[in-house]
Amino acid sequence: MSRMNRQPLTVAVVGATGVVGRTMIQILNEREFPVGELRLLASGRSAGRTVFADGRNLEIGEAVPEAFNGVDIALFSAGADVSSELAPAAVARGATVIDNSSAWRMDESVPLVVSQVNPGDLEGHPGIVANPNCSTMQLAPVLMALRDAVGLERVIVDTYQSVSGTGADALAELEGQIRAHVSGEPKLATVYPHPIAFNALPEIDVFLPNGYTKEEWKVVTENRKILHLPDLRISCTAVRIPVFVSHSEAVHVETREPITPERARTLFAAVPGVVVNDDPSMHGYPLATEAAGRDEIFVGRVRQDASIEQDRGLAFWVVSDNLRKGAATNAVELAEALRERDWIRPAPARGARSYHAAHAVEATA
Ligand SMILES: NC(=O)c1ccc[n+]([C@@H]2O[C@H](COP(=O)([O-])OP(=O)(O)OC[C@H]3O[C@@H](n4cnc5c(N)ncnc54)[C@H](OP(=O)(O)O)[C@@H]3O)[C@@H](O)[C@H]2O)c1
Repeated sequence: MSRMNRQPLTVAVVGATGVVGRTMIQILNEREFPVGELRLLASGRSAGRTVFADGRNLEIGEAVPEAFNGVDIALFSAGADVSSELAPAAVARGATVIDNSSAWRMDESVPLVVSQVNPGDLEGHPGIVANPNCSTMQLAPVLMALRDAVGLERVIVDTYQSVSGTGADALAELEGQIRAHVSGEPKLATVYPHPIAFNALPEIDVFLPNGYTKEEWKVVTENRKILHLPDLRISCTAVRIPVFVSHSEAVHVETREPITPERARTLFAAVPGVVVNDDPSMHGYPLATEAAGRDEIFVGRVRQDASIEQDRGLAFWVVSDNLRKGAATNAVELAEALRERDWIRPAPARGARSYHAAHAVEATA
């Protein structure tokens, strides 16, 4: 056994004052990840502040390159600009980065990993591992079950995403608008382009030249990479709704072979971390409020898609806590997998073959 999987590790959390960063600290603690030293980092604005974490008051440091000296694993959740700039600096100082932002996800040399879908892709990491977008995260394990059993022809997913997916400011904005509504005051919108309270906004992240939003396109490209299906036909509409935590998704899948809803439920329930809740007679289906605070991905409303012939279509509903499995839990699961498999150091340093997205496709072609 190497030093890395015997001894407690020095772990940095970058973005430690944010909603994902705080959830990461909580989950490291809950899962008893062997943290020797916990280094909490954020912007210069927060440096010197203390936060209560890990049963004690810990000081926030500024996320600068020198802060990564001696760090084994750095969990980044401070946005793509910070990750683009600081992740290479952290790697150069010997840290392995698990990055929550979109900065590295589509880099051909960086594995993009959902813990129960493609953990093998971690082996060849170059020092950076990417954690998928929250909407992708809850979908990929469910699609994996269908890919492996009956093949995937086409996927349509429409998301109903909570405001915590935008961060701490959006949580405050929704709460403020609800209070303003109750007291008859105008609803001020600064985070979103329109009031989010009592609304549904079909705009998440920026618009791209192809008419999709960047969030929608992440669902398309990230699922293809994680599932090793570069040509998967997949489309998405991403909608922000006034829910605090948990994203919901309406999914329509055309499969290569026929499949019944009964078989699909059995396949879904066999995926680690997926729970089927599907009892229409008792109004039983996954709810955002019930998924919040949980690590599982919940699936329900499984039915034959009536628009597809020969029983080759399914429709269903997928719900998960975007801060936990959608971000922090998966990141910590990846850290656990790296440690258990002795893959914390980058592939070249271990003499392992470097990851390349094209190789991942070859492996399952
Ligand atoms: N929310 C989700 O469901 C979700 C899911 C998956 C991925 N993510 C990704 O996770 C990241 C953070 O999201 P969040 O929801 O936690 O946002 P948030 O609540 O707004 O927190 C942002 C964090 O980033 C830090 N930060 C901002 N600028 C910085 C800088 N220049 N240097 C160092 N730290 C800086 C902030 O520190 P200060 O307090 O000092 O400003 C804060 O800790 C984003 O990349 C997001 O895309 C979020």
